[in-house]
Amino acid sequence: MEPNTVVIRDFRPADVAAILEIQLAAPEMAQWRPADYERVSRNPGGIVLVAEPSETLSSIVGFLAAIEIGTEAEIQNVAVRADYRRRGIARALLAEGHRRLAARSVASVFLEVRLSNLAARTLYRSLGYAECGLRRRYYASDGEDALVLRLQLPVV
Ligand SMILES: CC(C)(COP(=O)(O)OP(=O)(O)OC[C@H]1O[C@@H](n2cnc3c(N)ncnc32)[C@H](O)[C@@H]1OP(=O)(O)O)[C@@H](O)C(=O)NCCC(=O)NCCS
Repeated sequence: MEPNTVVIRDFRPADVAAILEIQLAAPEMAQWRPADYERVSRNPGGIVLVAEPSETLSSIVGFLAAIEIGTEAEIQNVAVRADYRRRGIARALLAEGHRRLAARSVASVFLEVRLSNLAARTLYRSLGYAECGLRRRYYASDGEDALVLRLQLPVV
């Protein structure tokens, strides 16, 4: 499947069940409660995007949550269902997220990623994110360190 066979759209409350299913199957990501997605989507600085296959009535297969604060933003969560990975869906979600953040005059996007999460680190590097910090024992569940990455967005 090419990325143009998924539609990137805004989150709706009915997407929460599919989001939680994807999240539960991906222990390397932040495990949010259902209300967290609705809270971020209602926040004026929040962006929650989902990837929905356009050729079927299947539920969503990926999502992204971000928060903008002034000229900075943070990607807080991103995941793609395991059987839809390596088809450019995360790249498409991040591209749309970056486009929207740039339109809100965000200049720098930050995120944290586990040192061991090589798939996500490779994805972010391919999009231009650079390492700008290390948070030791950041993840309370197992004490793993987090890398802090930053992307400078073009001025629009
Ligand atoms: C990380 C994740 C979101 C990537 O989603 P995806 O839709 O498969 O990513 P894409 O297909 O858009 O990949 C874009 C690029 O990222 C890199 N990449 C993605 N997955 C990779 C992997 N498993 N190994 C190496 N590189 C990978 C590649 O450069 C890829 O381009 P290519 O396929 O042309 O080589 C997905 O693996 C996932 O949901 N993981 C679990 C949750 C998670 O770790 N979230 C991030 C928390 S910080």
